[in-house]
Amino acid sequence: MPTEPALPDGRRAREVLAELCALRTADAPTRGGRTFAYVYDAGLDGLDELAAEAYTAFATVNGLDPTVFPSVARLENDVVGAVAALLGTPGAQGTFTSGGTESILLAVKTARDNARAERGITEPQLLLPSTAHAAFHKAASYLAVEPVVVPVDPRTFRADAGAMAAAITPRTVLAVASAPSYAHGVIDPVAEIAGAAAARGVLCHVDACIGGWILPHLRRAGREVPPFDLSVPGVTSLSVDLHKYAYADKGASVVLYRDAGLRRHQYFAHAGWPGYPVVNPTVQGTKSGGLLAQAWAVLRYVGEEGYTALAARVAEASDRLLAGLRASDGVRVLGEPAAGLVSFTVARAEGGAPDLGLLLHLADEMRALGWYLQPQLSFDGLPPNLHLTLTPATVGQVDALLADLATALEKARALEPVTVDPALTAFAAGLDPEALGPDEVAAVLAFAGLGEGAGLPDRMAPVLVLLDALPGALKERLLSEFIGSVFRI
Ligand SMILES: Cc1ncc(COP(=O)(O)O)c(C=O)c1O
Repeated sequence: MPTEPALPDGRRAREVLAELCALRTADAPTRGGRTFAYVYDAGLDGLDELAAEAYTAFATVNGLDPTVFPSVARLENDVVGAVAALLGTPGAQGTFTSGGTESILLAVKTARDNARAERGITEPQLLLPSTAHAAFHKAASYLAVEPVVVPVDPRTFRADAGAMAAAITPRTVLAVASAPSYAHGVIDPVAEIAGAAAARGVLCHVDACIGGWILPHLRRAGREVPPFDLSVPGVTSLSVDLHKYAYADKGASVVLYRDAGLRRHQYFAHAGWPGYPVVNPTVQGTKSGGLLAQAWAVLRYVGEEGYTALAARVAEASDRLLAGLRASDGVRVLGEPAAGLVSFTVARAEGGAPDLGLLLHLADEMRALGWYLQPQLSFDGLPPNLHLTLTPATVGQVDALLADLATALEKARALEPVTVDPALTAFAAGLDPEALGPDEVAAVLAFAGLGEGAGLPDRMAPVLVLLDALPGALKERLLSEFIGSVFRI
């Protein structure tokens, strides 16, 4: 029997809350427009307070059973109805989920089960451009679907529709296009991919997790946006995250299908146990009504005109940032960013090859100046880059960002280049990640500066340069081990 209690004695609410809030001091700021990934700040007065109050009002409601909590059905029909009105066609039906990953997981399951029922496919394949979000690979792994990855155009970073069409096989259950892709913020040729899929009787999912809400509002604001939603012939499902450019709190997304016949394959019902009859539209069973309520409230609060104005602000931030980046020596913007996402790489000299070490030094220098820009490593001939997610709150920061970027770049150029010992790269290339024991993994992590209990180093450049040089499977093993050491209990 354990002798220590699992928890200390209960304390006053005020003290508990103070301790909780103090934990955030080391976190990147989520408001104020200096964190250019992970957070979406509308910069609107009253929005956070409204979302928090709406969450609280529904926190104890269980979304598991809308017959007991009919408010949940009303809220979900309203939210999905708004998404369908913006991005659907008559007959479209959908589901509120916890995020892009869950929406994608469900869309892949739906396609797999539909293909089994309609086409007798038992060894399904999922057709992906190489820039498709990692969530599709996760879905493929969870659902025993084989991912078939087609390289994107290395110049535009857009999916190669011709190559994707050629990669369709009798086992393909779903083809995917992004609007836009996360990595480079460019919109894939949705109509071509969907058309080729439809011609072969294959479903097509548009991952509009990041663009689904902002793109139609950018169009309303006068920007040119190509068709990408369910109105495009051949598109059969679509995902859109309300916790991105609809500015709901995290845990809010919608997956939308062409019709009820398709959505039916997403649901899980079970009557073969002695408990209550189960029917779960999503991965979750019990779920708080709070996330749905806050998303509902935020949509109502901002409204159509509000979202159009917010989209225009993001576009303004993007225009100014792109102009500044394109005028900077040695900086190259990747592709033609369509919405609020911008990626760029850097070279030692104008027109030179992307320099990973310099790029990562730049990210570290920017972090030291209080900005978070997200490093993305090289992949299959695509250059490493820094990724920025622009939000309305970043508009007022663009000039300061560009000024600091110029200073940081100068400093980064003067620093000792970070490189990896080629002998280590050669050694790593020969390792079998699955055969590595805990001691060997610990040794590699320690070498990378990520030893157990060491915490994160101040500068990530040496770690990321090493990671970039490792083979994909070893990278994945080390990432899992590293995160396992972060969540160490
Ligand atoms: C295009 C795209 N798809 C899917 C996702 C995954 O969404 P989430 O992180 O909400 O699970 C993201 C997240 O950034 C994304 O940008």
